[in-house]
Parts: sequence; C-alpha cells; structure tokens
Amino acid sequence: MKQVSASILSANWLKLGEELKRAEEAGCDCIHVDITDGHFVSNLTMGMDITRAVCGATNLRTDVHLMIEEPGRFIAAFADAGADSITFHHEATAHPFELIREIKKHGKLAGVALDPATPVEAIEHYLDQVDLVLLVAVCVGFGGQKFIDAVDEKIKRLAKMREDKDLHFEIQVDGGINTGNGAEKRQLGVDNLVGGSMIFLSEDIKDTVRLLKA
Ligand code: DX5
Ligand code: ZN
Repeated sequence: MKQVSASILSANWLKLGEELKRAEEAGCDCIHVDITDGHFVSNLTMGMDITRAVCGATNLRTDVHLMIEEPGRFIAAFADAGADSITFHHEATAHPFELIREIKKHGKLAGVALDPATPVEAIEHYLDQVDLVLLVAVCVGFGGQKFIDAVDEKIKRLAKMREDKDLHFEIQVDGGINTGNGAEKRQLGVDNLVGGSMIFLSEDIKDTVRLLKA
C-alpha cells in the first residue's frame, strides 16, 4: 500500500477549498488534519469546526491527528465532525484501550501516534487493536522541520513487529518527508507518507505526489 496524506497545516487557509481540490487532483489518498491544544504541544492550530468543513468538502479519507491532552474528551466531537480516522498520542493517555474502544464505537478507524522519542515497544501490547500507527518524525506540532533520523530505526522495528505478529495496521510517518527521502522511508516499511510543506509548498504538487508514490 503506497499512500500519501496531505497535511493541511501548510495549506493556504484562505483558499482551503481549492487546496483540498489541488491535493485530490494530485493523487493524494488522505487529508491529514493536525489538532493541537497549546498544552500537549505549544501550538494552536485547528479545531472541530474546520475539521467538519474539511470533511464535508473532500471525498478523500480524512485523518485527524490529535496532539492534545486528555484526547478522550474530544473523540465524540471529531467523530461527529466527520473524521474517518482518529489518532491519539500514546503519551497523552494512560488508557489507550478505552480510547480505542471509544473511537471504534463511533465507527471510525483508530490510530495511535508516537513522539520521536517514544519507543515503538511502548505500544506493543495494543498494536492488535489499532488500524494505524503514526510515527511523528519531527518536534510535534509544527510543520517545515527536518526529519529526525532516529525514527528510521522505529519504522523498521514497527514493520518487523507487524510481520512477526501477523497484524495489518497501516504505518504512517509524519514530518520532514520530501521527495528526497520518501522512497527510502517506504523501503523501511512506511505505507502512508504524511506531508505538509512538501505537498502544499511544492512547485509542482502532481509531480511531488507521483514521486512519493513511485
Ligand atoms: C507535525 C504535524 C505534521 C506537519 C508535517 O507535528 O503533525 O502533520 O504538518 O509538516 P511537514 O511535512 O512540513 O514536516
Ligand atoms: Zn500530523
């Protein structure tokens, strides 16, 4: 599975509808919506009203990446806003099983995200419950940073765990992805490359997506 997600954090928000169309026409598979709360990460980005508008305006799968504390408080709201998948941070909860149950209760795909410094072994005991794992490869919450090389080892380990346990969750990598390193991340085991600046700030978005899928 070779997928590309467009993170609208780097889109032109004054032209969000057009940006979604641009991502769709370029061949992106998913729209990635970054939600922050100013606590879990020191940035404020989008909330559920934008999420609702985005979900209603695209035919692509919509992935919500919750970079917030106490994510359980907002599962119902983002499900109601129309997200197809909801991904919480492992570091933000002591009760992942409960959260996953809640997400699935709403009929959504359940994802777990990891900060660059959190080992993949931390989620080993509930990997069989999730539909996707998102490995963040930059300081969480901001676009336009450089890929942290230590995440390569995590991708490899996670892909190996998936194989050993005969599981089928999707592996996503988020942050610092570009046409120069995308292919190498795929070879390590990534299914879905998530990118903000590489997509929306690229001169030729179609060519960028084509290269990332090659
Ligand atoms: C970072 C966000 C990413 C961000 C990636 O924490 O979760 O989704 O948009 O941006 P780029 O692709 O610019 O690194
Ligand atoms: Zn993200």
